[in-house]
Amino acid sequence: MLDAAQLAELSRLAEAAAHHSYAPYSHFYVGAAILLESGEVVTGCNVENASYRLTTCAEQTAIASAVAKFGHKIRIQPVVVANLNDTACQPCGACRQTIAEFAGPTAVIIFPGANAALTTTTLADLLPGAFALSS
Ligand code: THU
Repeated sequence: MLDAAQLAELSRLAEAAAHHSYAPYSHFYVGAAILLESGEVVTGCNVENASYRLTTCAEQTAIASAVAKFGHKIRIQPVVVANLNDTACQPCGACRQTIAEFAGPTAVIIFPGANAALTTTTLADLLPGAFALSS
């Protein structure tokens, strides 16, 4: 589990990433910081597109960046989400499934909940019954 200093640092990095957000359509500026089992931290921000559905969420950008940087064997520990809008921001369904590709059900997800207060939960709570290809 994260201690207070680690959480503060991941929140700071997520917020810093949100400053790089490209969100000219929603004006909702999101950042994510993910801590890998290796101890590395990777961040991402949402990147919108004039063809709205091509938008990439902050969590997905961070994960794609982590795979590009460290390879496909990455395992995600906590994911911390922040936004510059001082509002609640749970990972969307697509982000939950993307996290599930590289994290176990006990992975901790932290995001601004009601009143923008940080909420801590697990992937299993956010995505019960995640899709997986059975071998
Ligand atoms: N967004 C994220 O970056 N992560 C989420 O989990 C939810 C939504 C972004 C996508 C879009 O650029 C903006 O927030 C508004 O939906």
